[in-house]
Amino acid sequence: MKVMEVRSAWGLDHLQVAERDDPCPGDYDVVVEMRAASINFRDVVMVRGGYGSKGGRLPMIPVSDGAGVIVAVGTRVSRVKVGDLVCPNFAQTWIDGPFRDDVWAGMLGGYRDGVLQQFMLLPEDGVVKVAPHLDATAAATLPCAALTAWSAVVDCGAKPGSVVLTQGTGGVSIFALQFAKLCGAQVILTSSDDDKLKRAKQLGADETINYRTNPAWEKRAREIAGPNGIDLVVDLAGSLDQSVKAVKAGGTVAVIGVLAGATSPLSLGQVVTRAVRLQGVTAGSLRAFEAMMQAIALHRLEPAFDVVGRRMDEAGKAIAAITEGTHFGKICMELQA
Ligand SMILES: NC(=O)c1ccc[n+]([C@@H]2O[C@H](COP(=O)([O-])OP(=O)(O)OC[C@H]3O[C@@H](n4cnc5c(N)ncnc54)[C@H](OP(=O)(O)O)[C@@H]3O)[C@@H](O)[C@H]2O)c1
Repeated sequence: MKVMEVRSAWGLDHLQVAERDDPCPGDYDVVVEMRAASINFRDVVMVRGGYGSKGGRLPMIPVSDGAGVIVAVGTRVSRVKVGDLVCPNFAQTWIDGPFRDDVWAGMLGGYRDGVLQQFMLLPEDGVVKVAPHLDATAAATLPCAALTAWSAVVDCGAKPGSVVLTQGTGGVSIFALQFAKLCGAQVILTSSDDDKLKRAKQLGADETINYRTNPAWEKRAREIAGPNGIDLVVDLAGSLDQSVKAVKAGGTVAVIGVLAGATSPLSLGQVVTRAVRLQGVTAGSLRAFEAMMQAIALHRLEPAFDVVGRRMDEAGKAIAAITEGTHFGKICMELQA
């Protein structure tokens, strides 16, 4: 079968087509013919060698998120069947319960081979059936970005009447907007681009702030929220000092990303004296993915994405596209071999 590998050295320039043996399922395994993938900022980092000491090994098949059709199952598989459209869960060994340290080792597109393979061998507990209204390309957006947004919004308690602020118009933020609206929350969304803010309004954002023309966006956000304040900030930039100032006393900041760089100062005094809860969020378990998929099916939620590349060997172009920052929602690619 055909795969895309980072082979001899780290970097996008070393991503190339390779041949590997077709997989054969064990008793509890499934073989998935991959149809589509989506790109996360993490994929850029992993192709460059990974996060610090958690770096990967070569050769590596990158990209964590995708969707495909089951073409073979082991003799004891009962959760899914041949013909089902499924997504691999990002964190393969995280079935249920809270995050554990060993979950890292089961993440796809780094420590484990990713989705840029014609056929993927996975345990039956490593896949989730896709909502009936979604095709493979739309479903490919879900495993990391959507599940991270779901964990941030739902686990941090968004509910009818809550006020949620989310940063930017990338993959996680647009899903956070969509899930917060499903929960009945009011949503304030920030972006550097007025056209993207207009698109976010069309998707349900109640209020928007351009963080480039309003660098003190946390003050504007507090004005917009009024006396009840902001219950939850979905912090993707790593701008923790501003997020802690934006959220209400006793509110929550979901700490997810470091888009603005990992060196943001944080006034601990504000965290303590205003009793702000900081909650790190990293994707989610198989059970959380199933719950999210049910909500997506029930509300016929449509992921926002652009397609960059229609063949597996265009993966380099698709991965590079996320660094340009011009996208809205997710960047997807189709995986014709
Ligand atoms: N912990 C986890 O499990 C997890 C999972 C997924 C992602 N992440 C992290 O979360 C972050 C977002 O991921 P993503 O996949 O959504 O990225 P993405 O699709 O690349 O989104 C990037 C968008 O964020 C906005 N942005 C960039 N710099 C910003 C800043 N300084 N302040 C506010 N917004 C800014 C921009 O939106 P505008 O163009 O609208 O300004 C940009 O287009 C990344 O750091 C990623 O590594 C973490």
